[in-house]
Amino acid sequence: MRSYAKSIALYERTKKALAGGVSSNVRYAATPVPLFFERGEGARLYDVDGNVHIDYVLGNGPAILGHAPKPVIDAVAASLAEGQVFAAQHPRETELAERLVRLLPSSEVVRFATSGTEAVLMAFRLARAFTGRDKILKFEGHYHGWSDQAFVSTKPSLNEAGPADAPVPVAGSPGMPASVLDDVVVCGWNDLDLLAAAFERNKNEIAAVIMEPVMVNGGPIEPAPGYLDGVRELCRRNGALFICDEVITGFRAGLRGAQGRYGVNADLSIYAKAVAAGFPLAMVGGRRDVMDTLLDKGVMHGGTYNGNVQSMAAAIAALDVLEANDGAVYRELERRGTRLMQGLAELAKKHKQAVKVQGLPAIFQVFFTEGAPPRNYRESAACDKDKALAFHTALQEEGIRTNQNAKWFLSIAHDDAIIDETLAAADRAMATLQ
Ligand SMILES: Cc1ncc(COP(=O)(O)O)c(C=O)c1O
Repeated sequence: MRSYAKSIALYERTKKALAGGVSSNVRYAATPVPLFFERGEGARLYDVDGNVHIDYVLGNGPAILGHAPKPVIDAVAASLAEGQVFAAQHPRETELAERLVRLLPSSEVVRFATSGTEAVLMAFRLARAFTGRDKILKFEGHYHGWSDQAFVSTKPSLNEAGPADAPVPVAGSPGMPASVLDDVVVCGWNDLDLLAAAFERNKNEIAAVIMEPVMVNGGPIEPAPGYLDGVRELCRRNGALFICDEVITGFRAGLRGAQGRYGVNADLSIYAKAVAAGFPLAMVGGRRDVMDTLLDKGVMHGGTYNGNVQSMAAAIAALDVLEANDGAVYRELERRGTRLMQGLAELAKKHKQAVKVQGLPAIFQVFFTEGAPPRNYRESAACDKDKALAFHTALQEEGIRTNQNAKWFLSIAHDDAIIDETLAAADRAMATLQ
């Protein structure tokens, strides 16, 4: 048995000074306690007890180049002496913005922020100012940050969530004013009829439809063929903006994110996480006429750390790697991730476990289910979570770190040798599940 004695002691000590012992609630979920890592390098993390983990959590997505990627670290180190924040412009902002608009077809202009949560709030404000409407339609199981406006029906209990064809908005946290729910319409995902009906029920009231174009937080589940195009068209017909929250899929589902992968263009898009390979950077990109409301209508967006020197340097260096040879690293991620997904599916068969290994090669999940592949939040929620947790725990014992749902993020530091090592460990972990 691996020992976590030092992490446990440090967690007990930390709780006395740091509320709850963590800086983000999602970190509570770790077993036996939120672990303390001393350092990360490539695909591996090293914890305070001396345990080595092959890491498939990757900071929940940002570390697309692995931990401490040399080109990014070198670029950030070189920028440190220039200063950090000027409450003014820095030439790297220009350079990065120009690269991003060249790369991302639906982003005619971009605006930088620091976290995905804030960037979502900015997109909501832009959509409301542009359309003159207040309601935002979001999908059950989709996560768009922890703000009052967005943290609705992200992981609702099915007792509270209402009927599948017209879910009721469920606040995700105590402390959220009930009034925010008045402006949120919740819809089941991956079903155009449900969306059309929601538009009918809220005629001329919906400013924007926001979604994770691949539902990762409640999945990962890919959009059904034609679904994204259908949503795009329903938004157009109903005068609502289509917002793609690519905080996870951006620079992970491919060089041009999920929109590039599925050939759809949103009105507004949100990127964060992988774009700066681990440094804090988020952005909203979109149609020029919508983004112009910042200046034309005086739509307010601020943020002390927006466009800070180090995040700009990190993103430029990350893009140098991600863009090289028209995104060659993504072809490699696809190949390795597909190998890992298939390997896990074969191991499940060998150990007589009913699973669906589902998602994209760079972000997938092992769903324990006898049923069909889940297509939306309710089907995903019906899969066997206890089994997934048992698999996660057995993997951790074997030195493989996934999140609690047995969700896997991949980085380009996960080479074939590491995947071989992972599959051998997963074989032993699966054997414990009988
Ligand atoms: C799809 C999606 N949107 C928004 C966010 C919020 O981003 P942040 O944690 O940077 O505030 C997340 C975070 O996991 C996310 O997965």
